[in-house]
Amino acid sequence: MGNLNEASAFSQKSPYEIYQEWEGIPAYKDFIVPDLLKLELGHWDRTGGKAAFVNMEGAGGTCDTIVEEIAPGGQLKPVRHMYEKAVFILQGQGATTIWNEGGRKHTLEWQRGSLFSTPLNTWHQNFNAQGSEPVRMISLTDAPVIVNRYRNLDYIFNSSFVFTDRYSGGADEWGKGGRYLPEVKRGRVWESNFIADLWGFQPKDYKERGGDNRTTLFEFVDNTMSAHLSEFPAGKYKKAHRHGAGAHIVMLTGSGYSFLWEQGQDRNKKRVEWGRMSMFVPPMQWWHQHFNPGAAPARYLALKPWGFKFNVEDLRDTGEDVKKGGAQIEYEDQDAEIHKIFVRECETRGAQPRMAMFGT
Ligand SMILES: [Fe+2]
Repeated sequence: MGNLNEASAFSQKSPYEIYQEWEGIPAYKDFIVPDLLKLELGHWDRTGGKAAFVNMEGAGGTCDTIVEEIAPGGQLKPVRHMYEKAVFILQGQGATTIWNEGGRKHTLEWQRGSLFSTPLNTWHQNFNAQGSEPVRMISLTDAPVIVNRYRNLDYIFNSSFVFTDRYSGGADEWGKGGRYLPEVKRGRVWESNFIADLWGFQPKDYKERGGDNRTTLFEFVDNTMSAHLSEFPAGKYKKAHRHGAGAHIVMLTGSGYSFLWEQGQDRNKKRVEWGRMSMFVPPMQWWHQHFNPGAAPARYLALKPWGFKFNVEDLRDTGEDVKKGGAQIEYEDQDAEIHKIFVRECETRGAQPRMAMFGT
């Protein structure tokens, strides 16, 4: 590994950008990725598999994603790192073995739809259990922050420090069970290190966001980062809200569109069209609002560099009216065009608008 501290001093590029070049895999920079399954990957020496970095513009350098593939019947090299990582399985079936330096190994089996996280700096190795198709996975990591700060790849990828406060090596600590925390976020936080299938998980009612939305928040392995799963029905749309940078929205079902705009830029909204396996990220404190004029419920995973277990972000309540100090625009306060456009979109796409408060 090269000397990143030396290579990045007084460079126009960030240490993280130089690290990416050294890794030798594609690095995509986009506002939206239309289909994560179609993204072209390159060989990654670090794991022996295929991979690409995806740096979404809306992430603003707070976090990144890596899309990886394991060949049919294949396995990747064991790795460990001083950045956090949350993994979602986009396609295929396999297993991950984890262990602390010198400790016992534990193996977790997963499939398409599984969400989990390898605890900070644990060794882990990924396997494809099928001989017929590749595994494709996406991970959210906070490597941009860690690499820029430490600028020493030997420390980041080869440190023997064991975070026993996060994972002591016990079989029951990782990949087992889960529970709702009744005291947190009105009971919508599910704490677990492993969710077997996000397509099969029923999220909780979250009426504050409107549109018959349901959301469950996930906290895992004492990470700073977290995730959530949301679903809302066809013919409906949610209220606009805003927060910090880096919430990676991965669409699991449905087709529709979202508006994203900066405060004061109501007439200058950016529109993204999404479908199954699209990914986009609302930029820092941009308002964003999701619309489902399609035929099926819209279900998505959001992978985020902050969570609710550790209070590291200045988070306003995104389910509270902005007039009352929150970070949400109520339906009655939204730009009148928004509903007109939605009705037109439903007509075009054949869905029945079902927004009771507007009479349609
Ligand atoms: Fe959001």
